[in-house]
Amino acid sequence: MGKAGAGKSRVLGLRLRLTFSYVIIFTVLLLVVGALFRQTLDNSLQDNTAAILNEEWAAVKGYLVLDGGRPSWRYDPDDTEEAFIVQRLRRVFLLSDAEGRVLEVSDAYSYMGIESKQELKSMMKTGQPVWRVRKDQDGVSYLVRSAVLVDGKDQFLLTIGRALDTNERILGQFTKRYFAIVPLLILATCLLGWLMAGRALSPLNDVAQAAQSITGQNLGLRIRRRGAEDELDHLIDAFNGMVDRLQSSFNQIRQFSIDVSHELRTPLTAVRGELEVAMISARTIEQYREAMVTAIESVDRLTQVVRTLLHLSQAESGQVTLARDVLDLSEVVRSVVDHFELPADVQRIQLEWQLSPRSMIKGDKIQLERLVSNLISNALKYTGTGGRVEVIVQTRGDRVEFSVEDTGRGIAPEHIPNIFERFFRVPDGNVDPERGLGLGLSFAAWIAKAHGAKINVESTPGVGSRFLVQFPAAGGRAAEEPLVRQEAGLRGGGRLESGHGA
Ligand SMILES: Nc1ncnc2c1ncn2[C@@H]1O[C@H](COP(=O)(O)OP(=O)(O)OP(=O)(O)O)[C@@H](O)[C@H]1O
Ligand SMILES: [Mg+2]
Repeated sequence: MGKAGAGKSRVLGLRLRLTFSYVIIFTVLLLVVGALFRQTLDNSLQDNTAAILNEEWAAVKGYLVLDGGRPSWRYDPDDTEEAFIVQRLRRVFLLSDAEGRVLEVSDAYSYMGIESKQELKSMMKTGQPVWRVRKDQDGVSYLVRSAVLVDGKDQFLLTIGRALDTNERILGQFTKRYFAIVPLLILATCLLGWLMAGRALSPLNDVAQAAQSITGQNLGLRIRRRGAEDELDHLIDAFNGMVDRLQSSFNQIRQFSIDVSHELRTPLTAVRGELEVAMISARTIEQYREAMVTAIESVDRLTQVVRTLLHLSQAESGQVTLARDVLDLSEVVRSVVDHFELPADVQRIQLEWQLSPRSMIKGDKIQLERLVSNLISNALKYTGTGGRVEVIVQTRGDRVEFSVEDTGRGIAPEHIPNIFERFFRVPDGNVDPERGLGLGLSFAAWIAKAHGAKINVESTPGVGSRFLVQFPAAGGRAAEEPLVRQEAGLRGGGRLESGHGA
């Protein structure tokens, strides 16, 4: 419950964040667009005013008569329209002569302040119309155009202006209206963003819910793909893949527990049986001793099972750290072969070896000895009297090969894939009291894997088997050197004659 709540609030947090991002982006966009639009509007209003001023300036020439420096306006006062036009032209108006003396000025212009003679004269010298924005005492802005007016030989400076307050009002109105809508738009974005984020995230919630319903008891459940082939489907695939792997590990562990209990129960039942029989029927000390010896043997076997299992579990759970020493595999194999000479002799099996010196690999001596020993002991165990076992170490390119070949009973093809599984033993009719645990090859496989090596098995039932382990050579390519051939077993022990021997 608590966990589900936490998941929900995290999704809610994501939804909030998404919405927030939408809103921020949209607000910035709105502000930028508004500012740009306002600037464009401002420019076009000013252009418009300037165009009108140009026209009015030209119109003034039609009504103004400069009679020897004395201005007078010529129009029909009875024509109300004309009178109105002239009145408008004279509203913001200044006429000055070449000396900068003011000949006529309107009240509105005076209110703005009349330029000094110096300024008026300098404006005449430019020869170009001069545009300015000026403010009167009330703060009203005017666009003002001054240009030279030629009348015969005389030059005058004619300045007219137009108030910009209408423009400013339009701009002000636009700004006010626009920024009144902006909060509404932002609010709408909030709502829309919240809905959209919710829609986008809802499949995520479904997946989370499905994931929550998967437990150790129903690992077979899978989250259904949505078929959109999007990131979420990808996530679902990854998740289902993870559950697949978990399930197979789970099954393996379950099977392993069953196997272990079975493996431990058999010797335990035996011990109990033996002790019970002894308790009821033993009479002499000799009989008790016998029962105890058998019980101790069973307990030994139990101990061995438990110890091997412990090693294997430690190895597979990564608790065993392997040394990475550079060592000569031939020397490792030779020391192990030494131990098997006597048993081979007893079994009347011919044990031979060909060990190529300086077969350098990187690895852990103890674990490698265990691997070699498991393979050789299998070969001896599953080969009958008079058979032959051959152990070879040789370098091939960038690999060092170790192989054990026997002339034993072989393994049927259908069993080969299973022999590396824990507790697997090829079933054979007779129950051998000395039979193995079925753990040797599991261990060997783990050791090989931990050394980056591969184990290959070739076997023909009734003919023999060959186990081949290929290690990467230390430092890549190892020098290929001629084999040193030795024989042991029936004809007595052989010794490696190379200079690296003990
Ligand atoms: N060289 C071989 N020839 C024939 N059969 C073999 C050979 N090596 C292994 N096997 C078969 O593979 C099975 C598994 O081998 P593994 O070494 O894992 O177990 P084990 O030898 O029975 O017991 P353990 O090695 O744990 O004492 C063996 O029981 C045997 O049936
Ligand atoms: Mg074995």
